[in-house]
Amino acid sequence: MSALSSHLIEEIKALPARYPQPRSAVMPALDLAQEEVGYLTPEAMTEVATALQLDAGYVEGVATFYTLFHLEPIGKHRFYVCTNLSCTLRGAEDIVEHLRGAIGVKEPGEISKDGLFSYEEVECMGACEYAPMCRVDHRYHYDLTAEKIDQLVTERRHLASTPVQASASHPSPLPDGERGPSKPKRAPRKKTSG
Ligand code: FES
Repeated sequence: MSALSSHLIEEIKALPARYPQPRSAVMPALDLAQEEVGYLTPEAMTEVATALQLDAGYVEGVATFYTLFHLEPIGKHRFYVCTNLSCTLRGAEDIVEHLRGAIGVKEPGEISKDGLFSYEEVECMGACEYAPMCRVDHRYHYDLTAEKIDQLVTERRHLASTPVQASASHPSPLPDGERGPSKPKRAPRKKTSG
């Protein structure tokens, strides 16, 4: 039995055409596989390699190098909280502390009892201007506060209790967040004198 759906394999096969170097498709392909399976099993990585006509060892090497790829089960919704300098200066440690309490875990990688959540602390994700920030479900969330964390957790708990059918035109039923760090520029913060 195939680890990946036939629909996803076709989607992965189409990826190399988007890149000057077809090998560059390996990361988005692994991302898609991880999203569908939950984590990267050996079978899923092999199927990604086959779909992209790449060496299986190369694909596994990429998967094991980057912390955003997981080779073991993780929470269905994984929070990647940036704890690099800018985010830490703007309260990332308090955000992590609050997140732990909100999802009921004590340490990075631990899966919440309901299987819905886990978190990890990661390096800069290129959105320092909007620190503190995190990524969850492929979306970036900026200027985090305890209230925003509660909202993100509550939305996902609600989704788990009332499943919504995703569609190709709207792959995520979750409304908030940005696909990447390219948030529209906001007015610069006012300088204080003295
Ligand atoms: S330091 Fe957190 S996004 Fe750059």
